Amino acid sequence: MFNANMPYRNLGKNGIKVSQFSLGGWTTFGGTVKDATTIHSILHLAYESGINFFDIADVYAKGESELMMGAVLREFPRHELVISSKVFWPMSDDINDKGLSRKHIHESIHKSLKRIGTDYLDIYYCHRYDTETPVEETVRIMDDLIHQGKILYWGTSEWTGQQIQEAIDICEKGGYYKPAVEQPQYNLLVREKMETDVIAKAVQHGMGLTTWSPLASGLLSGKYDDGIKEGRLSKIEWLKDTLYTEDNVRKVKAMKKIADEMECSRSQLALAWIAAQKGISSVILGATRIEQLQENLGALKVNITPEVDRELKQLFK
Ligand SMILES: NC(=O)c1ccc[n+]([C@@H]2O[C@H](COP(=O)([O-])OP(=O)(O)OC[C@H]3O[C@@H](n4cnc5c(N)ncnc54)[C@H](OP(=O)(O)O)[C@@H]3O)[C@@H](O)[C@H]2O)c1
Repeated sequence: MFNANMPYRNLGKNGIKVSQFSLGGWTTFGGTVKDATTIHSILHLAYESGINFFDIADVYAKGESELMMGAVLREFPRHELVISSKVFWPMSDDINDKGLSRKHIHESIHKSLKRIGTDYLDIYYCHRYDTETPVEETVRIMDDLIHQGKILYWGTSEWTGQQIQEAIDICEKGGYYKPAVEQPQYNLLVREKMETDVIAKAVQHGMGLTTWSPLASGLLSGKYDDGIKEGRLSKIEWLKDTLYTEDNVRKVKAMKKIADEMECSRSQLALAWIAAQKGISSVILGATRIEQLQENLGALKVNITPEVDRELKQLFK
């Protein structure tokens, strides 16, 4: 894949290139968006706009996201795509159907490959750190999966710098493939862990960073300025409780002035800001409607100057 309108970035120091903006399926495809035609049109717009990286997880809509995104992704040439999935969260009540044990990862990768309809994943993420499994056990099965050709790179998601270092030390000692990428939450409202811990660790080890929830589940778009009438925060209670605070809404409202001056929307400004930060390989977008993806891709035209960066960091400190 090559599209002159889309910048492509190396995944850290690794050779594989991912589009600056990518598309994921958390809560949306197979979840709040069940209509196959809508999913088809959103994924086609993404592909036609130069997005080559599609992010899924076994647990998204309990396998439905892999099934529904996979059905569309199979329409594109496989070699052009970077497809990721993840493992960790429970998929059933079965005592072994969760976590990062050799057993669960072995069972889970085969189910994910089958649901997506592909022979291999480009990236396979450990969806959280597992306190009940020795990290060496996880590292060695990930290394095995790379040797078996079932995955090309493995990564972590929401691990701390120290946990990443633990895995890297084991890899260096044993000669195993190291994690190539970390997938953290990062947006104007959630910055601390990334900026005080994770970015430095990823850069130190040449790992890529593919960031999630860039619009804080839509809050940064400004759609909740006057309360929650529709959208994700009206459907998912715990997200509303975490994100919808007076202080967050005040900051998002204040951001409008900066966006207006730059003649872009707040969504576009928030997305362009992440892409401009150190170490970022790809910003994973989410969309329930094709118009949202269209608007969000307009972030490619937004230039974050050092002054705008400072102004935003000051506002969202
Ligand atoms: N590794 C992890 O633990 C983890 C966790 C979460 C997500 N992720 C990945 O990151 C991806 C993106 O995360 P996310 O979906 O939370 O991203 P997000 O950009 O923070 O939220 C996306 C949601 O915001 C709303 N939205 C998007 N664009 C909008 C616009 N221009 N105007 C108004 N509303 C808009 C839509 O929801 P509504 O229309 O329903 O309001 C959309 O589904 C996920 O799909 C997944 O692949 C990973």
